[in-house]
Amino acid sequence: MEAEAAPAGTDERDLTGVYRYYELAKRAEWQVRDLPWSDVPPIPEYKGSPQKLARRQDLWRSVITQQLQADELAVEMATQLFAIAPDRDAKLYYTTMVQDESRHTEAWLKLIDQAGGMAERDPYLDQLAQQVLEADTLEEKVFLMQVFFERLIIPRFRLIARGSRGTILEDICNRLAIDDGIHHGSGMAYERILLSRAPKSIKGQLIDAANRMLPEFAAHALWRPKAREMIGQLMEAKDKERLKTELNHGVRLAKSGSTRFAPSISCCCTLRPAPSSRTRSYAIPAPWWMPSSIARRLQRSSSTVPRDERAIMRKRGMIRRS
Ligand SMILES: [Fe+2]
Ligand SMILES: [Fe+2]
Repeated sequence: MEAEAAPAGTDERDLTGVYRYYELAKRAEWQVRDLPWSDVPPIPEYKGSPQKLARRQDLWRSVITQQLQADELAVEMATQLFAIAPDRDAKLYYTTMVQDESRHTEAWLKLIDQAGGMAERDPYLDQLAQQVLEADTLEEKVFLMQVFFERLIIPRFRLIARGSRGTILEDICNRLAIDDGIHHGSGMAYERILLSRAPKSIKGQLIDAANRMLPEFAAHALWRPKAREMIGQLMEAKDKERLKTELNHGVRLAKSGSTRFAPSISCCCTLRPAPSSRTRSYAIPAPWWMPSSIARRLQRSSSTVPRDERAIMRKRGMIRRS
């Protein structure tokens, strides 16, 4: 990589912010064998009739299948980002993201095997991935995949983890929430650099792309396969409320373009599914994935250790201890 000439226009860019995530990702790496496969059950265990047990197992198989599908698609998207990113340091970073998404897929494959096998595929996830893979520009791909999707998916990991305490599933969700935090943070850092010299038309495309993606994400979040149809109906109101909260975070990110990416971006993301279908605008809190108490403490403590890194290592320590 060192011997090649830098692509035109990229050699004077300062990629330090992205390179930092390369170092961070390497340090935060874990292995599928680190999980306590023989110590805790793969998914929650219940008592009751064989029918009830079968229904519960189908539900968790369906949840895991959706995550497996998402990570298989994430490998493709990360690979594409690695292939087209013109900056060397960004390419270095994307090698870790491809590796992360592959390892996530490996973990889900092992878990779905132990949970009873694959369930129905979510058609909306495939469509979401297509939007990213077929996007015209690198700026749009980074925005959709890392700034938007990686951010929107994290609350779902937390939700699944809460419903599966003491299982391998919970452990995987906790690890992935951290990894996807790094994927998102690096995307924010790279997008800022990409947009610093991009023409106005490119910045405008991001808003259009976000508006195309939000309804698709809503359909994905509310989609229920047969295995979760009954519980899905019972939870529909709660699901919609939760989705509204998640999407508001996404809208915040798009809006954050005005302060974080470039002054000319402003967003009017319209969410189709009622009752949240209205235009909103917010200022983004930073860093979004860290409890504010920790963020405050870290901001006060040291300027030599990046605050994201310290928080990630602390969270990773918590996972190891549990
Ligand atoms: Fe992943
Ligand atoms: Fe990811």
